[in-house]
Amino acid sequence: MEHIRGNVIVGQSGGPTAVINSSLVGVFKTAKDRGAKTVYGMRHGIQGLLEEKYVDLSDHIQTSLDIDLLKRTPSAFLGSCRYKLPEADKDNGVYKKIFSILKKLDIEFFFYIGGNDSMDTIRKLSDYALEIGSSIRFIGVPKTIDNDLDITDHTPGFGSAAKYIGSITKEVIRDGLVFDQNMVTIIEIMGRNAGWLTGASALAKCEDCEGPDLIYLPEIPFDVESFIKKVEELHKVKKSIIVAISEGIRTPDGKYISELTDTVEFIDAFGHKALSGSAKYLANMIGAKFGWKTRAIELNTLQRSASHLVSRVDITEAYQVGGAAVKAAFEGLTGQMVILKRVSDDPYICTTDTYDVHKIANVEKKVPREWINETGDFVTQEYLNYVKPLIQAELTPIMVDGLPRHLTLNDKNLKNI
Ligand code: F6P
Repeated sequence: MEHIRGNVIVGQSGGPTAVINSSLVGVFKTAKDRGAKTVYGMRHGIQGLLEEKYVDLSDHIQTSLDIDLLKRTPSAFLGSCRYKLPEADKDNGVYKKIFSILKKLDIEFFFYIGGNDSMDTIRKLSDYALEIGSSIRFIGVPKTIDNDLDITDHTPGFGSAAKYIGSITKEVIRDGLVFDQNMVTIIEIMGRNAGWLTGASALAKCEDCEGPDLIYLPEIPFDVESFIKKVEELHKVKKSIIVAISEGIRTPDGKYISELTDTVEFIDAFGHKALSGSAKYLANMIGAKFGWKTRAIELNTLQRSASHLVSRVDITEAYQVGGAAVKAAFEGLTGQMVILKRVSDDPYICTTDTYDVHKIANVEKKVPREWINETGDFVTQEYLNYVKPLIQAELTPIMVDGLPRHLTLNDKNLKNI
């Protein structure tokens, strides 16, 4: 064991993934192995910390079975939040409160597992620490199914969601072939303004499956009329048509298709609109126009919580970025995010490094135009070469009574509530 270190606190933030808890284990285990005294977990990220809600993770992760279960548990074990810190020069009251809580807990190292909004929190807290001369180190641990974090080759959580999307697209395609009738199935996939996840539906195209017919990413404006024309043309040569759309597709004048629906609008603290209902809207439109049978499948939270089908590459990397964050902080770094650096596709080799969080926070990385075909309705081989290594191999759930067993947090151990 290395020499004794100060206390650590870790939080989870933003939308969860199937492997975010593997990163939590990576932080916890590495910090403990390297001599951290206490490893605290924030309940519901920075928002819970502000209410002094935290746990001592050693009360909850006690055995190697706990570790194995937690890695395989979807959703954020500690709870999450979408909380936007104000700029410190406008309102530093919140910062004073956070730093006084951190002082009370004798925290030396702060880790936040999240996407680009969460990296905004690391950026602001690390800047404030420098300003007030605090020696607390702040490091971001990447996570998001959207895969839209800049600089890092990819984000933990994406590979497993992509594996799930590729798998269920194959299954839906098979199901669409059952009846000898015209049918249009539209699958709606998360990812906000980046089409990384929607592109993963193309993985279904393989030896035993013809793949989806059309794929629409948010990077390309979505023309409803041309979409309907394409479906009409396709129906002249085949009966079952499968379309994958991103929840974030927009009309050429910038309106989300989901805004054309009667879904009640919800906007989070970062100004993101909750996007849903686009598949249903388009399916209804086609049904009404042609009288064909349609189905709208909104993958919704299934795609980010399917821990029964995680990619082993992804869950392993999720653990590694947690460990790398601890190593970086213990070596004295702050204001950094851990990144994944791909060395090669085949064999797939990837390493970790760190990068200035100021260059990453609040930036959305989109699918490059050249990875989308010319007609804007499918992804190219380059995209597939990129995603394929990330979905490889599995990690079997620990099954109890026929169902996957998870590790859950019991709030009776909350330190302060
Ligand atoms: O940020 C990840 C994400 O899963 C997005 O793809 C999606 O738009 C969003 O979260 C949904 O968030 P919520 O569950 O808060 O509605």
